Amino acid sequence: MRVLVGGGTGFVGTALVRLLKARGHRVTLASRTPGPDRITWDQLAETGLPRCDAAVNLAGENILNPLRRWNEAFQKEVLSSRLETTRLLASTISKAPEPPKTWILVTGVAYYQPSLTSEYDEDSPGGDFDFFSNLVTKWEAAAKLPGDSTRQVVVRSGVVLGRGGGAIGHMLLPFRLGLGGPMGSGRQFFPWIHINDLVGILAHALEARHVQGVLNGVAPAPATTNAEFAQALGAALGRPAFIPVPSMVVRAVFGRERAVMLLEGQKVIPRQTLAAGYQYSFPTLEAALKEVVG
Ligand SMILES: NC(=O)c1ccc[n+]([C@@H]2O[C@H](COP(=O)([O-])OP(=O)(O)OC[C@H]3O[C@@H](n4cnc5c(N)ncnc54)[C@H](OP(=O)(O)O)[C@@H]3O)[C@@H](O)[C@H]2O)c1
Repeated sequence: MRVLVGGGTGFVGTALVRLLKARGHRVTLASRTPGPDRITWDQLAETGLPRCDAAVNLAGENILNPLRRWNEAFQKEVLSSRLETTRLLASTISKAPEPPKTWILVTGVAYYQPSLTSEYDEDSPGGDFDFFSNLVTKWEAAAKLPGDSTRQVVVRSGVVLGRGGGAIGHMLLPFRLGLGGPMGSGRQFFPWIHINDLVGILAHALEARHVQGVLNGVAPAPATTNAEFAQALGAALGRPAFIPVPSMVVRAVFGRERAVMLLEGQKVIPRQTLAAGYQYSFPTLEAALKEVVG
């Protein structure tokens, strides 16, 4: 299969490209920078979609970059990097003389309203209560294609756990020093997925023709709270993890609106992902963390 991957140079994309190539697929990247086996977004806009059997979009400015202040300019980048790349791919797909068979977008579980009590599957309502849920609504709407000649899949991902990047990349140093701990109250849910499973779900969705619609990209293990996650990460590293990070500090670093992503969480069930026949490699947190820090 020839697969076009937008944002395929990033944390998730690198793992996806490796897996797709290992499964014998050919990959072209859509990127801001030119290079071998790449098309830039500008070229894509000018020339249209290169011939491919499937397209995936992973492009987006990194939301939890602690070095970026949560101001209007950064919020615009967070939005436009996702909406414009997704819109461009959707419009070039719909105009292609031979459109790809499959089109997959990765969004996030921020679609669902954080809660200590509610439980969400792919059919649960959401998408209309804060910056991030509105972002997911617009992002998924930007991906919508008219008609059904191309199979459309959206994977709403939880926090991706993997070596060398993502949220855990920022957390490892304090945890290794024994300075880690829960964020805020620690009672908030922490929906997570191992990177091999997120890219495994994407490959499954590309290859299994019956898969369509929304899939939750979270582990099937019983929901984890932030405090349980901190404890498990400390245990995996053989370090204590008792030092809580006060909400005030998280809000000071990330800004009040963005801090919601860390201080609040959702209990998310991957009902459709399991029904689609995906078999997880890292269904439990202990196994996932052992692989990540081992
Ligand atoms: N990592 C997670 O925990 C997580 C959780 C839920 C959802 N997601 C979503 O999954 C997708 C992939 O995540 P990731 O962690 O792999 O992301 P990432 O490594 O931060 O970035 C992915 C790619 O997006 C492109 N990009 C970055 N800033 C951009 C901008 N301003 N305009 C256009 N393109 C830009 C870059 O590709 P080029 O440099 O080649 O252009 C980059 O390699 C993202 O949309 C993210 O929101 C991730």
